[in-house]
Amino acid sequence: MPNSNACLCVALDYEDRRSFLATVKNFEDLDLVVKIGLRLLPKLRTEDFEYLKEQGIPFFIDAKLYDIPSQVKSAVHAWAKLGASYLTVHLSSGRSVLMAAQEAAKQTDMTILGVSVLTSMDDAELKELGVEANCKKQVRRLVSLGLSCGIKSFVSSVAEVQAIKEIVPNAFCVCPGIRLAGESQHSDQKRSYTVAEAVSKGVSMLVVGRSVYQADNPRAVAKKIISEIS
Ligand code: C5P
Repeated sequence: MPNSNACLCVALDYEDRRSFLATVKNFEDLDLVVKIGLRLLPKLRTEDFEYLKEQGIPFFIDAKLYDIPSQVKSAVHAWAKLGASYLTVHLSSGRSVLMAAQEAAKQTDMTILGVSVLTSMDDAELKELGVEANCKKQVRRLVSLGLSCGIKSFVSSVAEVQAIKEIVPNAFCVCPGIRLAGESQHSDQKRSYTVAEAVSKGVSMLVVGRSVYQADNPRAVAKKIISEIS
């Protein structure tokens, strides 16, 4: 069943500011969200966020915060002030952090995205951390915790969307691990889904990185994905 409310988020995991700005300039009239992660973040300047804001390009700061409540609260205020639309916080940071993040974000237009279990983790790695639950069970537990703190937007793999929606029926589900039809999956993706599969599973925001920014024409690929989504 197509989900026409889904949107595209392009993860611009460039190493340098110049490539980022060149691509973003080509995206000005496209209906998409730009994700800025830990690789690019140290290379950008305050004026770059102001530029995105002026151009009306929503941006997602993938900082994956995991700190004490006062620090997270300040980070939420700071990123909201710079105009970010989304900011990630690890759900495993615990209740006091999540409450602080959500409370701080309530006074802004920014949405806190709760990161469940990283896609790089498996049951064995969880066990090593003292977590007896398997990945799926741990995602459910973390999502329930997030919900009890007022968080309704989550980052997970496409495989976990159904489980999340059983707990939060109207959850905003953000999922990486998407490849284009006909494209083979990237070597660090354990299991990837096509755009059509992700949409049919109810993903709200499809995060696509290398397939777009490493393409010869990122704008054309982004446009193709947007038309496929809608
Ligand atoms: O794989 P791709 O380049 O499309 O990745 C887009 C985003 O998905 C990255 O910015 C990263 O945050 C996330 N990712 C992930 N797990 C992986 C690979 C990528 O969460 N194994």
